[in-house]
Amino acid sequence: MKLWGGRFSKNTDELMDDFNSSIHFDSRMYRQDILGSAAHVKMLGTTGIIPQSDADLIYKTLFEILDDIENGKIEFEVSAEDIHMNIETILISRIGDVGKRLHTGRSRNDQVALDIRMYLKDECVKIKDKLKTLLLTLIKLSEENLDTIMPGYTHLQRAQPITLAHHLMAYFQMFRRDIERLDDCVKRINIMPLGSGALAGTTYPLDRQMVASELKFDAISENSLDSVSDRDFAIELASCLSIVMMHLSRFSEEIILWCTSEFSFIELDDAYSTGSSIMPQKKNPDVAELVRGKTGRVYGSLISLLTMMKGLPLAYNKDMQEDKEAIFNAIDTVNLCLPIFTKMLDTMRIKKDNMKNSAKGGFTNATDMADYLVKKGIPFRDAHEIIGRMVSYCLDKNISIDNLSMDEFKSFSSLIEEDVYTAICLETCVNERKTPGGPSKISVMSQIDNGRVFINSLKA
Ligand code: ARG
Repeated sequence: MKLWGGRFSKNTDELMDDFNSSIHFDSRMYRQDILGSAAHVKMLGTTGIIPQSDADLIYKTLFEILDDIENGKIEFEVSAEDIHMNIETILISRIGDVGKRLHTGRSRNDQVALDIRMYLKDECVKIKDKLKTLLLTLIKLSEENLDTIMPGYTHLQRAQPITLAHHLMAYFQMFRRDIERLDDCVKRINIMPLGSGALAGTTYPLDRQMVASELKFDAISENSLDSVSDRDFAIELASCLSIVMMHLSRFSEEIILWCTSEFSFIELDDAYSTGSSIMPQKKNPDVAELVRGKTGRVYGSLISLLTMMKGLPLAYNKDMQEDKEAIFNAIDTVNLCLPIFTKMLDTMRIKKDNMKNSAKGGFTNATDMADYLVKKGIPFRDAHEIIGRMVSYCLDKNISIDNLSMDEFKSFSSLIEEDVYTAICLETCVNERKTPGGPSKISVMSQIDNGRVFINSLKA
């Protein structure tokens, strides 16, 4: 018989059991469910709402059940619907009537809200940790590539010379913000809903604060209706995770481009590449492509959650059971993508010469050539026009600006002198860009220093 079977005169259809049940996806919250129940029953005993000896027996048995689950000794039942009723059913089967006191002053509505919050808190710690490993890898690669000149792009057209370190540290900033966003999201996950009952609290003198501190929550929720019907925190997390994936996906796109023979900036390690079943020469960047592809799932989770919630009247509605697969899928995807992406980066071979040659070939020093004339007294707009003509001349001759002879330079402006060659060499172009945030070695080194301070500020 169902735990809620009292008012029913017949059993549910088997189809109904399958349809209604969430055990095949919410069983992963077994640990949180048991810890939540343990805190609840401890409070029920302490406050005298149920006899202390009953509370003690329930508490002890809950942990025995936890052990048995972890040792694979328990199979959950679809007919018991969800993880909450599965565990309660097992408890009652072990200690009989005493076990029936556990659910005093509680509803599955506040119970499930508690479990998800606990589960998401735990997962955020893991994801943050993986982001931290990625940040450390970016710092390491940046330090190794402070002098690796490459073209910076706008519109995917070669624009101005930068270094690979500068480029990688741009991603550092994105993933750093992702960690900060997660931290902020956790502030709102970290609110304890138990004690809200089905929707309208309870007449028992529950000590909600005690449960909150037992379970290491920052505070208790303020309004019982909101507590059981709020899934903002899951939506917010899905949004944070979508942004993580968006960053990984942009980075993946660049990795994929850089691996092409047209760019040939990097070669991925064999351990993180695949071949073709027909074309013997192929080496494909599947990791980056899958990360880019899986981004869609996480966005999908966010949209599912938003759509699932948009028409729900207060308070709990069964629609909300759909929250779990969506947010779990987003979490699983991010947990899967981050470590392999980090390893792929860590092991890639960087073809420094190709990067530099590409920067040389693409007139990436044209702005510096214009700036050179400005420093000789020519207004920037006029300098821009002169160098535009110079580039057009070079394109016709298929050479780069620094290949021009002194006579050729003079034909564009008599102000150009021998010092032009050092002024427009790529190393000067990069290292004279000393503005904070720029690509010069000095500036990138200070970005790395600040990055380290951030990483050290993260709790271990
Ligand atoms: N499995 C349910 C869920 O995930 C638990 C809450 C059920 N509450 C209810 N009143 N039927 O949402």
